[in-house]
Amino acid sequence: MGSHLPRGGWEAGGVSDLIETERLTLRPFRVDHQPDVEAVYEIHSDLEIVRWLDNPPFVLMADHEEARAWIERRAEIEAEDFRQLQRAIEVKATGETAGSVSIQRLVRQDGGFVGEYEIGWKLRPAATGAGYATEAARALALAAFAIGMDELVIDMYPDNAPSAAVARRLGAEELGVRDDPWYGGDSLMFRLRPPRAVS
Ligand SMILES: CC(C)(COP(=O)(O)OP(=O)(O)OC[C@H]1O[C@@H](n2cnc3c(N)ncnc32)[C@H](O)[C@@H]1OP(=O)(O)O)[C@@H](O)C(=O)NCCC(=O)NCCS
Repeated sequence: MGSHLPRGGWEAGGVSDLIETERLTLRPFRVDHQPDVEAVYEIHSDLEIVRWLDNPPFVLMADHEEARAWIERRAEIEAEDFRQLQRAIEVKATGETAGSVSIQRLVRQDGGFVGEYEIGWKLRPAATGAGYATEAARALALAAFAIGMDELVIDMYPDNAPSAAVARRLGAEELGVRDDPWYGGDSLMFRLRPPRAVS
């Protein structure tokens, strides 16, 4: 992988695999946990969600087997670079898996990776409207900043109003609609930085 980034996970101070907030637990997806498999499948087989996540063509998941493979692949990706995190959002009160929050590498259109990362979120439709995406993203971002990451990009289609609202609730710096060096086209972008220490 020829990366200039430090290697390792726990030893190098990676993000804990158990983050708790007031209402949520953030943890890696588990292939043997049916609510996780169902949540991954529900989200990735719904064109109304998938169409916001990447460029077309939009490929929908066909079955739970694909959802399990997706979960396994996320663990491999994190093993390759401990800054790449995909966390299940589990609602403490019900045990349900509401969706996911993630930090992923941003790769330039020419294929280059220059140390940029984005934070993103997706919820099952039934779990929206409760503040879970914002609560989860705030906690994951703070955990990332605590291990030394100093900037997270938030990048979306310009008309993704619910996602922009999450970014604004997080207090991210709004950069406006710009030429997107990673996904191409025009994207609405924000930048999230560690909170300044109060002296
Ligand atoms: C983007 C997405 C995660 C936003 O979900 P969301 O539920 O609107 O966002 P939050 O979890 O932060 O919840 C905020 C809403 O919960 C409400 N809410 C209710 N109880 C709340 C509480 N206790 N605390 C905070 N907010 C609460 C807020 O008022 C807000 O509702 P509003 O938008 O009607 O004002 C969701 O629309 C989604 O999964 N979209 C598809 C995937 C996607 O686009 N991902 C982003 C790609 S860039």
